[in-house]
Amino acid sequence: MSLLSCESLHAGYNGKTVIKNISLSFQEGSMVSVIGPNGSGKSTLLKCLGRLIKPTEGRVFLDGRSISMLNSSEIARNIGILAQSPSAPEDIPVHCLAAYGRSPYKKIMSSFTKEDREIVNWAVSAAGLDDKRHMPIGRLSGGERQRAWIAMALAQQPKILLLDEPTTYLDIHHQFEILELLQKLNKNCGLTVVMVLHDLNLASRFSGRMIALKNGETALDGNSDEVVTEKNLYDIFRVKSRITESDGCRTALYTGVA
Ligand SMILES: Nc1ncnc2c1ncn2[C@@H]1O[C@H](COP(=O)(O)OP(=O)(O)OP(=O)(O)O)[C@@H](O)[C@H]1O
Ligand SMILES: [Mg+2]
Repeated sequence: MSLLSCESLHAGYNGKTVIKNISLSFQEGSMVSVIGPNGSGKSTLLKCLGRLIKPTEGRVFLDGRSISMLNSSEIARNIGILAQSPSAPEDIPVHCLAAYGRSPYKKIMSSFTKEDREIVNWAVSAAGLDDKRHMPIGRLSGGERQRAWIAMALAQQPKILLLDEPTTYLDIHHQFEILELLQKLNKNCGLTVVMVLHDLNLASRFSGRMIALKNGETALDGNSDEVVTEKNLYDIFRVKSRITESDGCRTALYTGVA
């Protein structure tokens, strides 16, 4: 049985349908990228999967149970979601932001245990922010701030992480570092990762499955050999490209727009 799935999902805003008839299932331990042009519905899909918005039609299932029937803590213990442009008060220090990740495990007014503190320390460290742990997030660079949010999602210790453009603002070194961290958690801890990525070469390198959305519908779903082809990139993104392969990884070299 798949860990997370959706069936005939339709969703939108103010009566306008944005995603149409999407049915997908995500196996436990998979690492999946969602790609597609701006406005194709990637964030909307992720928000539906994490129950941040309610679909107009269709259902989302977590471990076979409809998420509309689950309480918020139960969802948060299973699904961590990093939004595309998260916001928080500027004066909150990194380790306090990360500590919010523990909320789904706490009863109201219950205090932090030693284990909670260890998990928060691990998450801050894993996100590469040991030396910035007391720094207010308003004083971090864009990339450091992004990593502080990743620390919060990790502290939540979910089974599934839904990440909307987790590498935005990151330089190439930190993009690799975050994706390698997610890959390590995926391999060693069985974390299921579904992430929206714009960089097709990184998506191809770091995910076993790629799903392309176009105009709110699933246009492609397969491994990188099947998805990253010159024809597909032309059809989906209207770019001309040449595909090469090295290290068992497909790389697109863009040569122009259609
Ligand atoms: N809160 C909202 N209210 C109204 N319309 C919205 C809202 N959020 C998104 N939309 C619209 O829904 C469509 C899909 O948006 P979505 O954010 O899902 O796209 P996306 O594929 O994530 O794009 P991007 O690559 O730019 O992040 C867009 O046309 C957008 O204008
Ligand atoms: Mg988006």
